[in-house]
Amino acid sequence: MRTIDQLSDDLGGLAGRTILVRSDLNVPLDGQQITDDGRVRASVPTITRLSRAGARVVVCAHLGRPKGAPEERYSLAPVAARLDELLDDDIDVSFVEETVGDRAASAVEALDDGAVLVLENLRFNAGETAKTDEERADFAQALAALADGFVSDGFGVVHRAQASVYDVAQLLPHAAGGLVADEVEVMRALREDPARPYAVILGGAKVSDKLGVIESLISVADRLLIGGGMVFTFLRAQGHEVGTSLLEEEQVETVKGYLDTAAERGVEIVLPTDVVVADAFSADAPHSVVAADAMPSDRMGLDIGPESERLFAEKLADARTVFWNGPMGAFEMEPFASGTRAVAEALAGRTAAGALTVVGGGDSAAAVREFGHTDEDFSHISTGGGASLEYLEGKDLPGLSVLED
Ligand code: 3PG
Repeated sequence: MRTIDQLSDDLGGLAGRTILVRSDLNVPLDGQQITDDGRVRASVPTITRLSRAGARVVVCAHLGRPKGAPEERYSLAPVAARLDELLDDDIDVSFVEETVGDRAASAVEALDDGAVLVLENLRFNAGETAKTDEERADFAQALAALADGFVSDGFGVVHRAQASVYDVAQLLPHAAGGLVADEVEVMRALREDPARPYAVILGGAKVSDKLGVIESLISVADRLLIGGGMVFTFLRAQGHEVGTSLLEEEQVETVKGYLDTAAERGVEIVLPTDVVVADAFSADAPHSVVAADAMPSDRMGLDIGPESERLFAEKLADARTVFWNGPMGAFEMEPFASGTRAVAEALAGRTAAGALTVVGGGDSAAAVREFGHTDEDFSHISTGGGASLEYLEGKDLPGLSVLED
């Protein structure tokens, strides 16, 4: 992938140049309050580097999934304010309530060397996420018209063929930012040459979101530990009652196929042996621990149980590479957070022992920070959930391949 140094050479230096940076600032918000600023923090080094080189830095990003028109709750204003707090005091940060258009163009025009401007949410424009190249072209051109060069630094969006990720890179001299370069290096190590034993922990609600990655991991990993809502489709595939738990009945046959393939290839699939069940999806619902093969028909599983926590920790104890994506239970409710907390602790232990441990984006990254872990407890906390899974699956990611030439 082209580097910022190469981009600088292309432009005869960065000082006085306007550089459009695509960051992933898609953070969880509670009203105006950012509940996990990991992605904003991760975007700071590249923005700082460009600013220090004298570039006029125009940051663009999306927040949530607005439908191509402005919606106040998805405004990037609070995120721009957080970025301002995180950047050095002498770096001037402003925000414009527009993405492309006269106000945005004037704000870019007014930038001093080294200053940073954050544009409003890209997805307030239908052209950003439009499906055809033609529909995205006008918006991509309007974005490109704002700048002299483009830096792609939002690893979390490189799996999206969207205007600000893919099309704009074809219109401007471009480079991968430091965050994208670092993330790709770690993901490549996982995909191509993991030290063994290599254990993967997958959780989250839906098995259908993870089918591709499970299929490819059955050829690469030594052990797959499964938790979260998706585990109930696995338990059903083994013939167990799963009560009122999340279940994707239409995936049961596919999952049976995975269990068979894993057995043939000697890949261990580790499922919980006990489950925390509750009457309802609620923090104050009465709950208890039952065996995973004896779930009552009127209860739903909301976490792995204590015996499974020990089992999962044992299965990680000698792992030299660990990748984790997806919580083990409904961790946002304290009674169902224990399994996810236990996995985070087991991973932190492996980091201390010298293993390569990678937490893959989204909920798992938010969970480890909520449990009080720091970035140092893991080798790498990825900013990309879907992107890291698609990379591991071996897919061609449009936002990466466009940075090659
Ligand atoms: C993410 O949250 O995984 C990225 O920001 C991509 O967001 P999206 O799934 O809405 O495209």
